Amino acid sequence: MEEDSFKEILKKYNQEHVLVAYERADEEKKKEIINQVKRIDFEQMKDLYDLTKKEIKFENSIIEPIQYLDSLKLTDEEKRKYIEKGEEIIKNEKLAVITMAGGQGTRLGHNGPKGTYDMGLESHKSLFELLVDDLKETKQKYGVAVPWYIMTSKENNSDTEKFFKEHNYFDYPKDSIRMFFKQGELPMLDEDGKLIIDETGKIKEAADGHGGIFGAIFKNGVLDDMKNKGIEWIFVGAVDNPLARMTDPLFIGFAAVNNYYTASKTIAKAYPEEKVGVFCKKDGKPYVIEYTELSKEQANQRNSDGELTYGEAHVLLNLFHISTLEKIKEVKLPYHCAHKKANYIDIDGNVIKPEKPNAYKFEAFIFDAFALLPEIGILKGVRENDFAPIKNAEGNDSPETARRLYIDFQNRKRDGVI
Ligand code: UD1
Repeated sequence: MEEDSFKEILKKYNQEHVLVAYERADEEKKKEIINQVKRIDFEQMKDLYDLTKKEIKFENSIIEPIQYLDSLKLTDEEKRKYIEKGEEIIKNEKLAVITMAGGQGTRLGHNGPKGTYDMGLESHKSLFELLVDDLKETKQKYGVAVPWYIMTSKENNSDTEKFFKEHNYFDYPKDSIRMFFKQGELPMLDEDGKLIIDETGKIKEAADGHGGIFGAIFKNGVLDDMKNKGIEWIFVGAVDNPLARMTDPLFIGFAAVNNYYTASKTIAKAYPEEKVGVFCKKDGKPYVIEYTELSKEQANQRNSDGELTYGEAHVLLNLFHISTLEKIKEVKLPYHCAHKKANYIDIDGNVIKPEKPNAYKFEAFIFDAFALLPEIGILKGVRENDFAPIKNAEGNDSPETARRLYIDFQNRKRDGVI
């Protein structure tokens, strides 16, 4: 892109303040800013800015609770059937796992990829190592090293790869850690819809949410790699839940036996304000309402039996058949916007560290893909066996609560209770 057309674009879209940053930059950075402008879809950014003005309302939609199967109510016969099928899938090397690890540990005060966080166990294992322990156990049990793919972001890709290398891939077969692949990015906008100049003097961009996973596995060759290996089922989970049992045969068998080409393992929401998305049906389609978008009224609504009406928490324990991923690989998911604090350089060149949210971040969510599917299988799991999230430095969902849950789970496993 020539300098002239670069300037014209910025003018056309009312972003001429970027030129001030451009003039201030050295030659190297100037090239990078030009490249950023080349990549940005300014029409899309206009639409995203409009989104920040819209209130999310579901009043024109029919929102209903969703059907699910409670794993605690399965008969022994059903359990056996599912587990056998799940084990067959694992043994026949038809299962792969993707961990979404694009996030940083910032909220935990950890300077680095969230997966490298040490939650304070005696072993000092990182979140990545706790997850790979599950895969190692499966390998021990079934003699199969389930292929593992790790979704990173531009911000943390090289640190993540370095961490794995430094830890000798946690002694998991290196060729089964198939790929580190990067998710996409989108610029952030200030409250007037202007691009933000970050502390390094470039346009501020941020990871575009884990909904980008479908496009990213397609573009980065992950889907092809899976097809070449004959993979049929793909578990997709978060990096911040050390109890994510990524190879649970019961869950896998539940999906396969019932021909659910997509399945999600839920848990009961603990209390109305818990920061988890909840499943429902929206206009007859499976849907997750994110906690930021659930009204207080909906969050507190209860059935006649006292249970929360929207109490099926989506906790990022999802399973896809490869045919589902094929179908939605080029689909564009909607974006959600979050109001965040973002440091920036003002027009006079001063670094500003705002004390309240000043910027919008745009993210696509993996679970918005569910609405594109005719149905999804939902298996209700057990909170103590499936969910120990680490989100905050202290209080709820903190290293302390996760440690307790993790140790308790390991003890019950050792005692043969699970
Ligand atoms: C998330 C879910 C919520 C769920 C809760 C369970 C979203 C939007 N909401 O909330 O429905 O009940 O977890 O713990 O996910 N990640 C990426 N790239 C991104 C953004 C996130 O890889 O661009 C990964 C993170 O590394 C993490 C996971 O996705 O592993 C969850 O992301 P986070 O932003 O922490 O979501 P929550 O707000 O906690």
